[in-house]
Amino acid sequence: MVKAFVLPVKPCNHCAANDRQGGIMISQQLNDTITRVGPGTPAGEVLRRYWQPAALSDELAGKRPVVPVTLLGEELVLFRDSEGELGLIDRHCPHRGSDLCYGRLEDNGLRCPFHGWHFDRTGQCVEQPGEPEGSKMHEQIKTTSYPVEERNGIVFAYMGPGDPPPFPNFDCFRAPDSHVFAFKGLWECNWLQALEVGIDPAHASFLHRFLEDEDPSDGYGKQFRDKAANTEIPMTQLLRDYPRPEIEVEETDYGMRVIALRHLDDGRTHVRVTNQIFPEAITIPMSREMIITQWHVPVDDETCYWYSMFTSFGDPVNKELMREQRLAEHRLPDYAPLKNKRNQYGYNADEQDRLTYTGMGLDINVHDQWAVESMGRIQDRTKEHLGKTDKAIIANRRRLRAAIKALEEGNEDALPMKNGTDVAAMTGPLANDTISNDGDWVRAYTEGDAARRAACTGWDAKVG
Ligand code: FES
Ligand SMILES: [Fe+2]
Repeated sequence: MVKAFVLPVKPCNHCAANDRQGGIMISQQLNDTITRVGPGTPAGEVLRRYWQPAALSDELAGKRPVVPVTLLGEELVLFRDSEGELGLIDRHCPHRGSDLCYGRLEDNGLRCPFHGWHFDRTGQCVEQPGEPEGSKMHEQIKTTSYPVEERNGIVFAYMGPGDPPPFPNFDCFRAPDSHVFAFKGLWECNWLQALEVGIDPAHASFLHRFLEDEDPSDGYGKQFRDKAANTEIPMTQLLRDYPRPEIEVEETDYGMRVIALRHLDDGRTHVRVTNQIFPEAITIPMSREMIITQWHVPVDDETCYWYSMFTSFGDPVNKELMREQRLAEHRLPDYAPLKNKRNQYGYNADEQDRLTYTGMGLDINVHDQWAVESMGRIQDRTKEHLGKTDKAIIANRRRLRAAIKALEEGNEDALPMKNGTDVAAMTGPLANDTISNDGDWVRAYTEGDAARRAACTGWDAKVG
């Protein structure tokens, strides 16, 4: 369902903001409100109403499936018990606080090495071997635990009150395991500025600009090196030659649809459809056969992970190759990128002169990482100046503020996907690059998406 954005008549309580030409000036108080996510914070409460990626299934694949997880500022431990079930519990033992990530994985649970207290996957203490014989004290000890579900390579956690919501039937969840690859990477910045690069269609014409057009390639990190839609124009050239996209933002039941239109000199229109899935994911086209759904998940206020699910409408994904390509650029166990601020992201002035806009290599993930990390751990939004092309960023902040306000007023139903929406029946969202020959760009992207889904033989991708 798509409806036009309705601007609030007056700013919400959190907004000490004044509208000014071309954008919104925000106060330090508002910046804190929309970025900080620890327990009890306004934005943290909003994020806790949705499933959050907590770990990759890959991280549990070794001999000892126990993984430290820091999520929304909470220190937790994820483990798989001997029944094959997952538990996500407080990392600090409720006895005297030692780190359960070093626990003994035994007897269908996790045992603290300090005094042997034993916990099952629900966080219930089931044994205290050092306490007097017959002690029932353990029955009173239950540590924090959160529901988890594993979907196509990612373990999701629900950290909010009440029962977790259903999963939407989005392509990344609906496609079979053979057609989805999941990976993650650490960024040293707040989650909101990381998300905002994903709803900013204008930056691709600059940040990801290549000064020469090579043969299109599907190589890792080179998603803008393909040909544009069904044309012979390299995407690099199109982005370079048409740097002023017209941007349309439509509110949807899952978040928003962001459409970037580049009107070509020959009368055709290049249409790129991306999405924001409230509160912190995006779904974007990667290539003709693949889309990416990516969450920007807070580790704490100053660090986040991107978690991506690459979903193919064509052949099964080559997981080994995709994993190998990405592991070559990341360090385990924390999935920190090898290029980072400590080595200037590989910046090379000669390269910036002749080959790339950034001088930081061909991997667009590094470009995005530099853009969001170099703002500072939490971007100082009191100093920013938003332009017309920041339309989706403004709309998203407005929606986040509205959600914060609704929760504070006890009106959880006003949040996206909470208002009686049949979440499990939600499909899509549509994400593609296409060309409109006659200016009817809605028809062009709708038909392009339907054709791709109809041609998908690996799984049933049809919607509606
Ligand atoms: S601190 Fe864990 S059992 Fe004592
Ligand atoms: Fe980007």
